[in-house]
Amino acid sequence: MPDDRLIVALDVPNAIEALALTTKLGDAVGFYKIGLGMLTGGGLGLANELTAEHGKRIFLDMKLFDIGATVEAAVRGLSRFDLEFLTVHGDPHVVRAAKQGAAGSDLKILAVTILTSLDRGDLDDGLMKPGDVADLVLERAARALEAGADGVIASPQEAAAIRALPEAAGRLIVTPGVRPAGAALGDQKRVATPAGAIRSGADHIVVGRPIWQAADPRGAAQAILDELAGA
Ligand code: C5P
Repeated sequence: MPDDRLIVALDVPNAIEALALTTKLGDAVGFYKIGLGMLTGGGLGLANELTAEHGKRIFLDMKLFDIGATVEAAVRGLSRFDLEFLTVHGDPHVVRAAKQGAAGSDLKILAVTILTSLDRGDLDDGLMKPGDVADLVLERAARALEAGADGVIASPQEAAAIRALPEAAGRLIVTPGVRPAGAALGDQKRVATPAGAIRSGADHIVVGRPIWQAADPRGAAQAILDELAGA
């Protein structure tokens, strides 16, 4: 059985390349993230193929945000696919609507708090209330969990503080921004190692480029799995 604490982000251009990557990773990896970039490249068809024909688990990263009725309808439609995690923005009305849409299915709703690419200046530009970004992340996480989110997406730096929230008991924390020691950071700034993220309270880590850009993706994934096994 693969260690499904590792979720591999399939951020390649299309479903054909994604399937080639999953073939290379074979039974080492059981859980994949499909994002917005794959929508026009056959993302939902890819999700179907990976679940139905290869027995994989799928995290669909759509970061939905809209009026409640639209979010509910979108999530109801998506809940008919065999997906395990779906992201929405963590605004309480969005989370509540997503949970309504997912009712009767096993789809878990994960809330995004504040995108890790945003700093205080970006929040000012977006007219978001004053305050330290880390505090706002915690406040948004608490509200999203109160509204019924099954879990939150968090940077490894935020994971421990979110794990300590009473609202987070029994809920999931999923962390991108994970880099094995020595790996290229890319555009990620606030990173942790795979074992460090798990120790901070993450249930799953999402890793993309360190695996799919590697000359030997299976070896890169195995090194991360070995690190998790020792965590
Ligand atoms: O290649 P890398 O390991 O940085 O990929 C991380 C994945 O997690 C990407 O699909 C990226 O879009 C996603 N992500 C992130 N940071 C967030 C939310 C999602 O890196 N705050």
